[in-house]
Amino acid sequence: MFSTPAASDKPDYPMLARQLASVLEGERNLITNAAQFSAFIYSSITDLNWAGFYLCAPASKPDAEFPNDLLLGPFQGKVACTRIPFKRGVCGTAAAERRTVLVENVHAFPGHIACDSASNSEIVIPLIKDGEIYGVFDIDSPRLKRFDAEDQLGLENLLAIFTAATDLK
Ligand code: SME
Repeated sequence: MFSTPAASDKPDYPMLARQLASVLEGERNLITNAAQFSAFIYSSITDLNWAGFYLCAPASKPDAEFPNDLLLGPFQGKVACTRIPFKRGVCGTAAAERRTVLVENVHAFPGHIACDSASNSEIVIPLIKDGEIYGVFDIDSPRLKRFDAEDQLGLENLLAIFTAATDLK
């Protein structure tokens, strides 16, 4: 049985990577692994108020440049916005531009969607496999500048482990 490590301000990302691989071992279901991943991140890193997935909804307008909305998936934290269009907010920007968006101060980010008024900084990483976008993983903190380049690399690597261990469709 896996026991969650103590939360850390400066996480040991290589150790978290090994623990995550063990948490996800033996199961490839998307919702199950996404729920475990959200809980793992939320309980392993200090000063977070939200951590979870927005997953691409089935295309509503197949011909549009961005046919999918992002729909709330498994998460930890307070209730959040249900549906976010591609290009909107930090999540929609990360999905549309297929890159990690690190925001030191969400109040200075044009179009930021305030789901939880406690959030002051945020990092959103796109969920991409074989060139296809499946959604994003979003982490919020009440602390300004909670995430730096080291967190970005560590978190991108953890999400890559999730992606490899999970059937995304
Ligand atoms: N702040 C996000 C919305 C999602 S919540 O933070 C959970 C955004 O601007 O896309």
